[in-house]
Amino acid sequence: MPLSSRHLLGLQGVPREDIQLILDTALTFREVLERPIKKVPTLQGKTVVNLFYENSTRTRISFELAEKRLSADSINFSVSTSSVSKGETLKDTIKNIEAMKVDMVVVRHAAAGTPLFLTKVCDSNIINAGDGIHEHPTQALLDMYSIREKLGRLDGLKVCIVGDIAHSRVALSNIYGLKTMGAKVSLCGPSTMIPRFIEDLGVDVITNIDEAIHENDVLNILRIQLERKAREYFPSIREYSKYFGITRDRLEKSGKDIVILHPGPINRGVEISSDVADGQQQIILNQVTNGVAVRMAVLYLLGTLN
Ligand code: CP
Repeated sequence: MPLSSRHLLGLQGVPREDIQLILDTALTFREVLERPIKKVPTLQGKTVVNLFYENSTRTRISFELAEKRLSADSINFSVSTSSVSKGETLKDTIKNIEAMKVDMVVVRHAAAGTPLFLTKVCDSNIINAGDGIHEHPTQALLDMYSIREKLGRLDGLKVCIVGDIAHSRVALSNIYGLKTMGAKVSLCGPSTMIPRFIEDLGVDVITNIDEAIHENDVLNILRIQLERKAREYFPSIREYSKYFGITRDRLEKSGKDIVILHPGPINRGVEISSDVADGQQQIILNQVTNGVAVRMAVLYLLGTLN
């Protein structure tokens, strides 16, 4: 069965069958990444534009590598070297790029809803690479892939997302995706960073981090987004680390073999200590490797729909 949509804007409302198909397809591409020649001809002749209006290391490089591994032609757009600096609008920018005959657009933008807007003004397949504080679907898909790879399943697993939920597109996509796949999702963080009515999405809120570690199989630790004024939501970084930081002492005290994820970039010593970030329980770099396979799967499934 093909995917039910020709775009990937978010995981809200995406059927279980679509997520399953993406994760299973990613498994076959993950094997390609282990070969001496890490390339397949699947998207030969297709052109993908990576339209990044916001900074990125992992997502941008991961998409670019995924496109190259699939033999697609890949074009990178960044605001600082484009005519956006001369005042060109997003609509004019995308219409001009499309006039050059592209097939797919991967977009990251600080404004929530930008990928949806692009679906209204252009014909290409649109993939959301993170829009404001809305969604980051490929991050959640690679998180789910990595959890499934480590623990063998998603159904029935208990996953806690820790930190700045209010400003996190990663949190929202993880909530939608994990719940669709049958996981039990909880949130833990300062009450100022937990949106009101979030429980309406079918998640539990845990206020004590030690309880969250005790209760769950997986912790997905979010970055404290200092550039989005996260500092205004708690008294000090030291206080945040004391009450919500994941440290070796805290994990050892719990005695639980909990699996640790972090989407990156990491604030070492803030939401996660270095010994945990580099320790035995984390799968952070596996997430990064799996991200290429997951993005290959998304590009392949959307790119061969037309
Ligand atoms: N996880 C993530 O989206 O990282 P980047 O901002 O570096 O792409």
